[in-house]
Amino acid sequence: MNHFLSSKDVPNLEDLLAEAKEVKQNPFAWKSLGHNKSVCLLFLNPSLRTRLSSQRAAANLGLEVVVLDVNAGSWKLEFADGVVMNGDKAEHIKEAAAVIGAYFDIVAIRAFAELKNQAEDYSEKVLSAFVKYCRIPVINMESSTGHPLQALADLITIEAHKQVAKPKVVLTWAPHPRALPQAVANSFVEWVSKAGFNLVVTHPKGYELYPEVMSDVDVEYDQNKAFEGADFVYAKNWSSFIDYGTVVSTDKNWMVTEAKMSLTNGGKFLHCLPVRRNVVVEDAVLDSNRSLVIEEAANRIVSMQTILKKILEAM
Ligand code: CP
Repeated sequence: MNHFLSSKDVPNLEDLLAEAKEVKQNPFAWKSLGHNKSVCLLFLNPSLRTRLSSQRAAANLGLEVVVLDVNAGSWKLEFADGVVMNGDKAEHIKEAAAVIGAYFDIVAIRAFAELKNQAEDYSEKVLSAFVKYCRIPVINMESSTGHPLQALADLITIEAHKQVAKPKVVLTWAPHPRALPQAVANSFVEWVSKAGFNLVVTHPKGYELYPEVMSDVDVEYDQNKAFEGADFVYAKNWSSFIDYGTVVSTDKNWMVTEAKMSLTNGGKFLHCLPVRRNVVVEDAVLDSNRSLVIEEAANRIVSMQTILKKILEAM
């Protein structure tokens, strides 16, 4: 593996999941793989899980890790070509990325959607610029349109708990006070579809996801109906793709409750975290043994370590 930007960089998902299982069972078996190699974790946005799990994963492989908060701990970056840089952005991505590429063997980047311009966000401006100018392997730690490390951790969690080969998996939109990107939902749909599970997406009208990831995916606008017989329920808020970046509904009736979970097939609850209690999901679900959210977060170490291992092995 060279870059890890989306599910498209995974030629065989079954093999990757098998490898992740091995990594989980024996995390220190490849301790010398990263000897004399380094990874830079670049954050343009906040993080708890991605930041910490990536550092743990790198340490398990013997990699040296440097974390940089772009915008807070370094110069503000300009991404546009041909601009007169007389504003607040002191460094162009061309130099910044090339310098990072000269210092490190791998770079991992978090750069959320700005939710102002759909075409710009969906062009993956930031991630593509790093791929173009860094000239080293790039890992997506949540970009404008996707969060593949999260989706891989989600699949690792589902694989460990599924009772049937093709479980029913429901992705449900849930309320949130702020406009959030579609990245987590996009990747979840993409990866669960690739796994061949029985996926149903439920959301209020107006929250239809990116058509490219939704081809061949069932949408059920009645949330209760969608939950019936589900083996896994994954809750996530996202802002509108069609009316780009807007909040078209904050309907509290879409919160995941124990009453709704009782419609499922003893369904397990998943969320990428951070989660707003009693807004997205009620305490009764999160604090019950239905909830897999902590195991899911722990599997973020496994997903990152598996990807780092594959990149190091290809060097
Ligand atoms: N799920 C996730 O990516 O968490 P952080 O935003 O805390 O990294």
